[in-house]
Amino acid sequence: MTAPALREGVSLRPFNTLGLDARARYFAALGQSRELPGLLARADDLGLPALILGGGSNLLFAGDVDALVIHMAIRGRRWEQVEDDTAILALGAGEPWHEAVLYAAGAGYRGIENLALIPGTAGAAPVQNIGAYGVELRDTLVSVSAWDTALGAECHLSAEECRFGYRDSVFKHEPGRYIITGIRLRLSRSRPFSLDYGDLRHCLEQRLGSSDGGGRLTPRAVAETVMAIRRDKLPDPSTLPNAGSFFKNPVVDRAVFEGLKARYPDMPSYDQGEGVKLAAGWLIDQCGWKGHRDARVGVHSRQALVLINHAGGSGADLLDLARRIRASVEERFGVALEMEPGVVGGSEPPTR
Ligand code: EPU
Repeated sequence: MTAPALREGVSLRPFNTLGLDARARYFAALGQSRELPGLLARADDLGLPALILGGGSNLLFAGDVDALVIHMAIRGRRWEQVEDDTAILALGAGEPWHEAVLYAAGAGYRGIENLALIPGTAGAAPVQNIGAYGVELRDTLVSVSAWDTALGAECHLSAEECRFGYRDSVFKHEPGRYIITGIRLRLSRSRPFSLDYGDLRHCLEQRLGSSDGGGRLTPRAVAETVMAIRRDKLPDPSTLPNAGSFFKNPVVDRAVFEGLKARYPDMPSYDQGEGVKLAAGWLIDQCGWKGHRDARVGVHSRQALVLINHAGGSGADLLDLARRIRASVEERFGVALEMEPGVVGGSEPPTR
């Protein structure tokens, strides 16, 4: 089996939604999982680490990438174990996530319709346990197929082994160990929809014209409503380069929350059992950053959690803006924000 050809000095600009112009020392596209061991051996021969790149929607290139960058292009959608109500949807890691959502919803299967329009690939979805509108990937994920670089062998991780948390998983805790090649999701034709986040139910009712939708309450209708809400609030990376939420929503101790709530009664919050999750977008907005613009980068005008690369900004420009935002939130609220995208390249140690 011949390994895919390596290209040298490739611009990664088309491969990251922030539109950052970093270069990969070497670059190859991976179309089939059986080509992976050969590519990893090439990286070893070159004395370089391998960096797996999916849709590049949760990455910030701080500079050129001295690695063999492997663009994950393993495609494939397959139904397995189709029963009366449930079925498993197996996706190659390179499948565009949003297309998979529309495919499942169009077939009448429920479970991932709230995750419509999230940019990126199916293989990247477990890394940060993508989530939106009250649903997370872990709610449907059955298993992840991966190459375990520590063992030099293929492996399958159960949902439990993925150790999912809010925007968190084993893949973040052991960066570089697993190269995800596919995922399997358990979907259902009858599971209840999750419509209680924000104004999702209200928007859906407005679109359908009645509360039960008269049978029109389909996974496709929910996906389309989520798409309309996201299009209203979140910028399209193809016109305004961005990486979605730039910070995680911070979870604070109940005592810290009570103190803040007394000072800011309107502050949105979500009970997490042990702690309380705050809305980073609200905290940043309160500090006056929404719509802020530096020379080349800025903060989105309708969602303060999203940083934008307006005009050929660099990773360093974005990191500098992020540092100032964090400092002002910390000063005013005493809450530390954690960045969501992984930082790769330049002198930064890779976080993915
Ligand atoms: N808010 C403001 N100002 C802002 C932004 C938000 O006041 O500029 C307030 C909103 O009014 C609302 C609260 O903050 O009361 C939460 O806002 P929103 O519902 O828009 O959600 P979010 O917490 O800002 C999270 C996810 C998004 C996901 C939405 C919907 C994280 C880091 N972000 O955002 O995920 O789409 O909920 O579920 O958890 C992503 O990860 O890239 C992403 C977009």
